Amino acid sequence: MSKKQNKTHLHCTVNGKERDDFVTDNILLADYLREDLALTGTKIGCDGGECGCCTVLIDDVPQHACLRLAATCQEKNIETIESLSDASRLSALQRGFHEKLGAQCGFCTPGMIMAAEGLLRKNPDPNEQQIRQGLASNICRCTGYIKIIESVQFAVDELKSRETSK
Ligand code: FES
Ligand code: FES
Repeated sequence: MSKKQNKTHLHCTVNGKERDDFVTDNILLADYLREDLALTGTKIGCDGGECGCCTVLIDDVPQHACLRLAATCQEKNIETIESLSDASRLSALQRGFHEKLGAQCGFCTPGMIMAAEGLLRKNPDPNEQQIRQGLASNICRCTGYIKIIESVQFAVDELKSRETSK
């Protein structure tokens, strides 16, 4: 006999759009985003809070979507990697990772970028140490991190020049 699963009415905002969904009480935020909303940019690596691949912003704060139940995100503002670019322009961080070769296999990249996005919203001009601290919860198996740091530094400079050219 199959066990009936409880569902919760979830009202939240995902990538700027209000959502009203019925989610099972035990579905992880990462699975809700990937499976229910087809936002597969959020990756699942360790599925246990250790790699940072699943990092999204919740109310501007980077959090691991594999450690959070979707049902606990009532009235939250959730942002995934898909929210960062519009059709015509990459975000400064996306450009940075492209220009500075911050992505190799790319699996960690969405989580890295969302962690960096959270950092830059809090501190738009971080030094190298602050960038390293901001990315401390994210693991990359490919790059050795130097290129990732340079990618974030590129984005910092790009944002400054976008600001001065307004
Ligand atoms: Fe969430 Fe690794 S998949 S921290
Ligand atoms: Fe491959 Fe980071 S680019 S894990």
